[in-house]
Amino acid sequence: MKKKALSIAVLFAVLPVFAQTKTPPMGWNSWNRFHGNISEALIKEIADGAKKHKLAEAGYKYLVIDDCWQAKELGGKGELLPDPKKFPNGIPALVKHVRSRGFELGIYSSPNKRTCADYPGSLGREVLHARQFSDWGVKYVKYDYCPTRNKEQHLEREKIIERYRCFNEALKRGNPDIVHAICEKGWAGGVSRYHPDNKKRMWDLKKSLSKEEKKNPPRLFSKKEMVEAFSWSADYGVMWRTSGDISAKWDRIMHILDMQEGLEVLCGPGAFNDPDMLEVGNGKLTASENRAHFSLWCMLTAPLILGSDLRDIPDEVLEIITHKEMIAINQDRLCKQAVKVLDTGDLEIFTKPLSNGDLAVCVLNRGESAVEADVKWSDLGLEKGTEKRVRDIWAGKDFGKYKDRIKSSVASHDVVVYRLSL
Ligand code: GAL
Repeated sequence: MKKKALSIAVLFAVLPVFAQTKTPPMGWNSWNRFHGNISEALIKEIADGAKKHKLAEAGYKYLVIDDCWQAKELGGKGELLPDPKKFPNGIPALVKHVRSRGFELGIYSSPNKRTCADYPGSLGREVLHARQFSDWGVKYVKYDYCPTRNKEQHLEREKIIERYRCFNEALKRGNPDIVHAICEKGWAGGVSRYHPDNKKRMWDLKKSLSKEEKKNPPRLFSKKEMVEAFSWSADYGVMWRTSGDISAKWDRIMHILDMQEGLEVLCGPGAFNDPDMLEVGNGKLTASENRAHFSLWCMLTAPLILGSDLRDIPDEVLEIITHKEMIAINQDRLCKQAVKVLDTGDLEIFTKPLSNGDLAVCVLNRGESAVEADVKWSDLGLEKGTEKRVRDIWAGKDFGKYKDRIKSSVASHDVVVYRLSL
């Protein structure tokens, strides 16, 4: 009896060592770069490319097929079918290939009748579809609310949340560790309809505004309301989209960054605001912009879901997306989302506390010309007279000890990231 008690005590003592903190999911998604032009052949090549570029070693785990993988209609039993032309060997065969390359497969569906690109969704068939995903060996599901396509812009908050709860429960039954990526963008809280992020969509929607809404025209959301809009998400998912779609444009990336302010209170282990998938390596983003975008998403403790073509990755892009020290800041087990501590127009400073007591500091220059930034410890919330060792993350250089401030030159549309330690 005594022996048994002892072994239970030992078990409890060692358990925390093995208990893994849930840090932001890392992977790749097909949408940003390929939209509907996806196929089994492409996803296999992506998996091969990801292996060739050693992305699993950098921490990336999931390869996610977004919308447009499905056949246009459900099967006879209401089941989801892959498009037979695009995915002739079915999803389990693809799971096998992806796994042989060191990754897990992710997939996409919607809590509506039709997905955003007009394929069948999972509404009313949550249990069946969740079981299909689990039987196929899928480890990540992006669940995307598509109100416009389904004319459900006015669905009540409780009904939207209930759809996510129901699917999450079904998913978890098959696999408690599955990543449920909520993509709802705050519709349940009204954010997507009235936030300035969606001005264009708001105008598109004007025709469909209810009488009540016509009387009370759209307005900006307060931070408190933004937080409230997403307050249910962590109960049913590991991550939740907090903006409309990203694009490979500097202004859009900055706009999405701005929308994250205030949401840090929702972020913690196993619960992440998702400012959308990365555009690093896409479009005409410059090397500076790619670096800044990646650094800011790391600072935000955002899921790092790559969105570029992994078959052929230019060296300067590969260097960014596999940057060990930057990824370590993102994956820090404290899971604190960075907050903006200084905003002087073009220059912004963000800080993110880390689990060993260090502080990550990101100095962002949003402007069109280089700036000389004076990074004062007092702005970072550090006491006067404090000495800190400073490491420049991107330069890979230790600068030694600094007291009260450090001067940094930051190029246009670029960042300097420091790690401050004792
Ligand atoms: C959007 C979503 C995108 C992508 C697309 C597919 O609603 O925000 O990330 O999934 O649907 O149709």
